Amino acid sequence: MSSKGRVLVLYAHPCPESFNAAVHEVVVETLTKSGWEVDDCDLNVEGFSPVLTEAERRAYHDIPENIEPVREYVERVQAADALVMVFPVWNFGYPAILKGFLDRVFLPDVSFKLQDGGVRPGLTNIKKLYACTTYGGTRFRAMMNGDPPRKCVTRAVWYACGMPKKKYIGLYDMNNNQEPQLKAHLERVRRAMEAF
Ligand SMILES: Cc1cc2nc3c(=O)[nH]c(=O)nc-3n(C[C@H](O)[C@H](O)[C@H](O)COP(=O)(O)O)c2cc1C
Repeated sequence: MSSKGRVLVLYAHPCPESFNAAVHEVVVETLTKSGWEVDDCDLNVEGFSPVLTEAERRAYHDIPENIEPVREYVERVQAADALVMVFPVWNFGYPAILKGFLDRVFLPDVSFKLQDGGVRPGLTNIKKLYACTTYGGTRFRAMMNGDPPRKCVTRAVWYACGMPKKKYIGLYDMNNNQEPQLKAHLERVRRAMEAF
């Protein structure tokens, strides 16, 4: 099958037996079967360090040297035609390892360009942005807290990618979900990836 393009899967969960691991597996398997070239970036397995160091902060705006500490990851993001993020919601945000990826890799002149006093998208190579997330609490509880991860993906990351086609596939209420809800969600993810 000819490649539909290259998709970077950014995955952030430390436990292989977790539900997010099952979601990740469905995402990678389905995209691969559908003809995508998948760059599967398991941040924990790769031992990604999420800490933006003192030196990195000082050089943050120094283009192009700012990419040096994370060049490999910058190249992987820039080589992608699409991005899929898979992560659980922790403290109404990304797990630290994924937040740190965005801090360290989504740099000036990579994910955004400062032009004429404004911020312009940098990752216009990314034509599709999907996120698969799970929450312990209900959608109502997340809403009452402003649902920051939903906004971070569908607004901030989406803008950085040049406002591509987007989909946020969230499963709420993991504190109560049972086998039928979990199975149905994996099926929803599979269908979304088939149609990706
Ligand atoms: C450190 C930590 C922080 C969490 N914070 C939240 C939270 O702010 N809101 C929420 O709805 N669930 C929260 N949860 C619940 C997780 O979202 C839930 O455990 C996860 O979605 C289940 O997926 P998993 O089985 O793949 O880990 C938290 C869980 C952990 C471990």
